[in-house]
Amino acid sequence: MLVTSKYFTSCSNVVLLVILQYIILSGNCLESGHGVDQLIKNQDLTLKEMDFFYVKLKIYNMSNHLSYWLYTREQLHGQLLNMSDPSMIKSTNFNAKNPIKILVHDWFGSFYEKEYFCSHIMKTYLHAKRCNVICVDWKQLTYDLSYASAKINVKYIGYDIAKALKILTNNMKVGSKNIHLIGHGMGVHIVGYTGKKLNGQISRITGLDPALPLYEDTDPKYRINKNDATFVDIIHTNGNSLGLFKSLGHIDFYPSGGRSQLNCKVLDKVTGGACSHAKAIDYFAHSILFKEEFKSFRCASWREFRMGECSEFANSTYMGEYVDKKQTGNYYL
Ligand SMILES: *[C@@H]1O[C@H](CO)[C@@H](O)[C@H](O)[C@H]1NC(C)=O
Ligand SMILES: *[C@@H]1O[C@H](CO)[C@@H](O)[C@H](O)[C@H]1NC(C)=O
Ligand SMILES: *[C@@H]1O[C@H](CO)[C@@H](O)[C@H](O)[C@H]1NC(C)=O
Repeated sequence: MLVTSKYFTSCSNVVLLVILQYIILSGNCLESGHGVDQLIKNQDLTLKEMDFFYVKLKIYNMSNHLSYWLYTREQLHGQLLNMSDPSMIKSTNFNAKNPIKILVHDWFGSFYEKEYFCSHIMKTYLHAKRCNVICVDWKQLTYDLSYASAKINVKYIGYDIAKALKILTNNMKVGSKNIHLIGHGMGVHIVGYTGKKLNGQISRITGLDPALPLYEDTDPKYRINKNDATFVDIIHTNGNSLGLFKSLGHIDFYPSGGRSQLNCKVLDKVTGGACSHAKAIDYFAHSILFKEEFKSFRCASWREFRMGECSEFANSTYMGEYVDKKQTGNYYL
């Protein structure tokens, strides 16, 4: 079930519906060669040349398998950054004075993930403010690897991002205060490792429904934790299913209780929770444009919140981009 459901990770509901139809018509997408051909056709040129059979289960030389795409208001279609060329930044529209938003997708970041997670949040950011949005594309490492072997690489992907950030910020000297890492699912643990590697120099990490499978009972040093950045905010939307339910950051948000989201009941059943898992992306993107949309209250539990015990005198803040960084604990909405 996991493999099938993760295929849907962070598709919009519309896309989900389309894929569901596809599945009904043609059986399991993952077993369909056509599906994979389509992925390859639509995506990286380099992918065809790669022989995954050889490198399977081995640690990759990350630099060769990650791509970094820079998006700015001047370059809405994205520029591929060549990280082996240190002077490369000068030829891009990167501006260290503006916020640096790093987006890292989930496992099985198919073109849906890239199209949806990255483009959705990137467009919203560039609409709202001048910033450098960098989408880290690690889907080459997810195509024909199992979830478990992808997990082995999580650390090294995180480290490669740390290396890239050092190049972009001249060894964390210029603009490092402006760095905000945003991950989805397994991507949250990846940015966690980036934070660990940079010894907490990252000012903020936002975790969108951090992946649960294989992370449930992991020691905090092997998953996202609040020491990974000065401020870590987490949005739980499919807790105890595809996402971790326990508190992980300085502040944790539990919309609708954090387990399943509105209008996701049926889709979650079929996809193992992918609909609710993807909602974290929607909420976050929405919060960039609508600052005061997701007012949340600190509370001991969802049950107490629902009984109205926390809405009057409790601390409150807004879930998402404009969270009040002075607040800590579990917040409900
Ligand atoms: C990884 O690849 C990069 C770029 O091709 C190369 O510069 C580096 O030496 C490689 N590292 C290892 C450990 O093979
Ligand atoms: C990236 O930069 C390196 C070093 O300058 C260069 O050798 C290589 O051709 C560049 N790659 C691309 C795709 O431009
Ligand atoms: C409650 O809000 C106040 C004012 O913003 C803040 O100083 C305090 O740390 C908050 N308490 C918690 C537990 O987040």
